[in-house]
Amino acid sequence: MSRSKSSGNWLREHFDDPYVLKAQQEGYRCRAVYKLEEINEKDQLLNAGMTVVDLGSAPGGWSQWVAHKLNGNGRVISSDILPMDPLPGVDFIQGDFREQQVLDAILAQMGDSRADLVLSDMAPNMSGVESIDQPGSMYLAELALELVDQVANPNASFLVKVFQGSGFDTYMKDVRSRFQSVKTRKPKASRARSREVYILGTGYQV
Ligand SMILES: C[S@@+](CC[C@H](N)C(=O)[O-])C[C@H]1O[C@@H](n2cnc3c(N)ncnc32)[C@H](O)[C@@H]1O
Repeated sequence: MSRSKSSGNWLREHFDDPYVLKAQQEGYRCRAVYKLEEINEKDQLLNAGMTVVDLGSAPGGWSQWVAHKLNGNGRVISSDILPMDPLPGVDFIQGDFREQQVLDAILAQMGDSRADLVLSDMAPNMSGVESIDQPGSMYLAELALELVDQVANPNASFLVKVFQGSGFDTYMKDVRSRFQSVKTRKPKASRARSREVYILGTGYQV
């Protein structure tokens, strides 16, 4: 397929997408918000007063939605390798989560507070080469789980994006060893052709 034809298809899919239109109408920064909303409707992740960490937060849809739901009663600490326009009620740290100084900055921002909910929608730029993309995304998911071990309150929840493929089963085991309940979620807004799924752990056991 020619380059212009394939990018034309992408643009058509994007603008015909009901979640893109809904996000525009409802003032959200991106369609990803409806993945989190659907999971929350089913699993009730969010409660007033929570401290929420949002990894891979740009452009800010999830953070925006969480801050809106918390309505000033709770904290949101977000981080991304890319810049993110400020959001009321959200503390943002820019940097590569694989770097120690970014982890340190998140921990410093948290101070004495512990997280009730850790979200990770991180996904590396996909090269299309599975032997590069899959380890890259599993590594980010592993680092997110390490952060959980450092900051989560007992009984906290963890929602993380992973791609089905090599390393998935081992990662599931690692999550299972820490949480009372572990489920996978594939919300409707997650494109069917994508290998992306979300793992949800609830009831963190220290
Ligand atoms: C699917 S987007 C997240 C969308 C976000 N949940 C929202 O609602 O706006 C994935 C994000 O992961 C970020 N990301 C990828 N690699 C990263 C890394 N090494 N450190 C931090 N963020 C990273 C990307 O920059 C991108 O913004």
